[in-house]
Formats: sequence, structure tokens, C-alpha cells
Amino acid sequence: MQLRLDKILTDTGRWSRKESREVIRAGRVTVGGTVVRRPEQKADPQAEEIAVDGAPLGWSAHSYLMLHKPAGVLTATEDRSAPTVLDLVPAGLRRPGLAPVGRLDKDTTGLLLLTDDGALAHALLSPRRHVDKVYLARIEGTVREEDCAAFRAGLTLGDGTKCLPAELEGLGPGCCRVTVREGKYHQVRRMLALRGLPVRALSRISFGPLRLDGALAPGQVRALTAAEIDALRRET
Ligand code: URA
Repeated sequence: MQLRLDKILTDTGRWSRKESREVIRAGRVTVGGTVVRRPEQKADPQAEEIAVDGAPLGWSAHSYLMLHKPAGVLTATEDRSAPTVLDLVPAGLRRPGLAPVGRLDKDTTGLLLLTDDGALAHALLSPRRHVDKVYLARIEGTVREEDCAAFRAGLTLGDGTKCLPAELEGLGPGCCRVTVREGKYHQVRRMLALRGLPVRALSRISFGPLRLDGALAPGQVRALTAAEIDALRRET
């Protein structure tokens, strides 16, 4: 697959299109060991070794993004009335088929993975996979040991939905950490409400091996590193 060199660099999410051109013109990019200074020159990123400053580029046929989702944004690819998580992805990082992996409620903040790698998304969401998701919640009330025991045993929600065993940890009055291994509708809010601990604010801090990057402000997106992508693949 022959692509323009500036597009190949931009696809990694590490540089904008303009920056990619500057990096190439500065003579920092090699293709098969030879310096290339023309951004429009084509190369095959799957077949040729492309390096920047001597380090392999780590190009991927797919896009893997971490979003720090802010409150008030829908986990959807399009909506007529409200902004969606895709609206937050800068043009340079958009790819056809890019979609969120799972969903966070409109008012939930935190780590959301987006990818156009449908096979990986499907595997991560498979009900058989049980990927850990960790949330911090601001709640009304204080977690008691019997609440933690009820989470460990597996709660049955008001509509009869059975939840897998989960972890609940009190972090002082009005605060707790919850780890669930599935993704049922409003699951964490419903589990805590069942124990008389209504949620005031909810934020996801990890998804499987991914940790929310503390340098990402709400609304910001970055490409996953090669190590993060490898860790996700190992999870499946
Ligand atoms: N559980 C919830 O209740 N809401 C979310 O957004 C995610 C998990």
C-alpha cells in the first residue's frame, strides 16, 4: 500500500500534517535507510522500514486513540442534538470506521478507547472476556464493609439483572473506587444506588491495561503508544 510520507507520519498521531512535512524536510526521516526529504514521496509503511531520528516509526494500519471524555458528550459516532466523542477527535486523527469501544454515560468522564480496528474492539467487548474497568465515584454516603461484601458476591439489580462479582473500595466519606468486569447499562450507578450510595460524579480511570493519561485534559485525545496497543492485544 503506497501512501504519501507526510500522511504516514500524520497517521501515527504524533505530528500534525504540517509538522510531518517539517520533520521530513528537515531530513529526519529515512525509508529503507535512505533519507527522504519530499513529503509527497510515496512509501509502503507495511513493507518498508520507515524511521524518524533513527527510531522505527511504529506505523499501524489501524488507529487507536485514548480520549479523556468530558461530561456532557455522547458516546456515539453522530447525533443531531448533542456533541459526540467523535467531534472531539482532531481531523488529523480521524479514520473511516473510527468508533468508541463500549460506552460511557453522557455525564461520565474519563478514559474512552476509540479505534477503527473492529476485530480488537469486538474481542475487548466480548462478554466472555471480562476486561477490568475501574471507576472513581463521588457518592452520597460512605461505603461500609457489607457493601463491599455485596459487590464481591455479585449484585442482582432491581430489574433482575445479575452482575458478576465486582470490587468496591471506600475512599473515605463520599468517595469510592469500583472495578467491574462487564459493561451493563448504567451498571456502576445502578450497583451503587442499590446499596443506598447514589452517584454524584463518575469517572473511568482504567480500561483493561490502559490507564487514563494524567496529562490529557478533559476533551483531549492522543494516539496510544505501541506498548499500550501491544498490551491491549495481549488482553484479548
Ligand atoms: N457505569 C455507569 O453507570 N456509567 C458509565 O458511564 C459506566 C459504567
